[in-house]
Amino acid sequence: MAQVKVSRINKYFKNICAVGDVSLEAQDGEFLILVGPSGCGKTTLLRIIAGLEEPDSGEIWVGDKLVNDISPRDRDVAMVFQNYALYPHMSVFDNMAFGLKMRKVAKTEIQSRVKETAQLLGLQSLLGRRPKQLSGGQRQRVALGRAIVRNAQVFLMDEPLSNLDAKLRVQTRAELIKLHRRLGVTTIYVTHDQTEAMTMGERIAVLKDGLLQQVDDPITLYRHPVNQFVAGFIGSPTMNFLPVVVQNRDGGVYIEGKGINLRLPEEFASKVKHLEGKPSAFGIRPQDLYHHARSPISAAADNSARLMVDVVEPTGDDMHVYLLAEDTPIVANLPAEASVEVGQPLEVVFDMEKSHLFEPDTEKTIF
Ligand SMILES: Nc1ncnc2c1ncn2[C@@H]1O[C@H](COP(=O)(O)OP(=O)(O)O)[C@@H](O)[C@H]1O
Ligand SMILES: [Mg+2]
Repeated sequence: MAQVKVSRINKYFKNICAVGDVSLEAQDGEFLILVGPSGCGKTTLLRIIAGLEEPDSGEIWVGDKLVNDISPRDRDVAMVFQNYALYPHMSVFDNMAFGLKMRKVAKTEIQSRVKETAQLLGLQSLLGRRPKQLSGGQRQRVALGRAIVRNAQVFLMDEPLSNLDAKLRVQTRAELIKLHRRLGVTTIYVTHDQTEAMTMGERIAVLKDGLLQQVDDPITLYRHPVNQFVAGFIGSPTMNFLPVVVQNRDGGVYIEGKGINLRLPEEFASKVKHLEGKPSAFGIRPQDLYHHARSPISAAADNSARLMVDVVEPTGDDMHVYLLAEDTPIVANLPAEASVEVGQPLEVVFDMEKSHLFEPDTEKTIF
């Protein structure tokens, strides 16, 4: 096993910055998630670690070895690709054995390693089949098996579940986590899906436009995002962002926007003195809004707003209620039993302790 460390990695394609000065470390045995929207540089960064792409600058360390000048096959790193990249004309056995044959591993050793891995992944009965005779989930396991047989120090996984249907994806996520616990191999796992990131990761690194935004555990990312991008990217439904102005009056600090006028808790009020009178972005998660009759926080004039119910989407346990503060849309996650009527106003309580405000210019989180 080994830790992986990249230090100040830069990679440009012409004038597009695919990876911008990224430094990141996966501890020995860690399952680190790399998440961000499509095009943010996830694949490029993984390929740089695997040695399939050369960075313009920066260092790549695997264990205590600087591997910049070491060829991909000698890096002791195994990559699982998004499209599986299986050889269509080879059997499952040969697909899994291929990398070992290339490395001139003895035949009997190949036999036993492939068999052992097939057993681990439940592929024993499929070893004679071709990829096209397999389901998506089985192909995904073969791709994984091909990485596992190599006994590599590090696994790099590039959206390995994105070709599976929703149900299988959830099931396979859990299997991957169990497998990681069992093998303990340092893994960097790439996904564009924040739900997948939140459910799988011990630590999550968020990328945007090639730049690392924040590296933290799921709860910290959710509760204390460093900027408006992370705040909006993590969590579902997305955090509400409302244009507001900070106002000092009646001995308190208020945020005023269309249809809302809310008092900030003392500990937040002291942080926004420099914003008095300036337009800013206010953030509140759909989960931190309450129906007045079911609110754990008592409703008062300075923590609630009368919003128009526009659309209601039941999801089973709860519902997504699309509200309007004049013409500004706000989504609330309310329990399915809450009484809500489309076209009628609803008194909504804001859990101000969980609210956020972002710097107008930099979009950095103030609270
Ligand atoms: N070989 C390449 N040539 C030119 N541009 C590339 C190449 N590979 C990636 N890019 C660009 O670099 C950026 C990051 O791409 P990528 O790493 O594939 O993102 P992700 O995996 O997060 O979707 C994108 O803007 C993409 O278009
Ligand atoms: Mg990609």
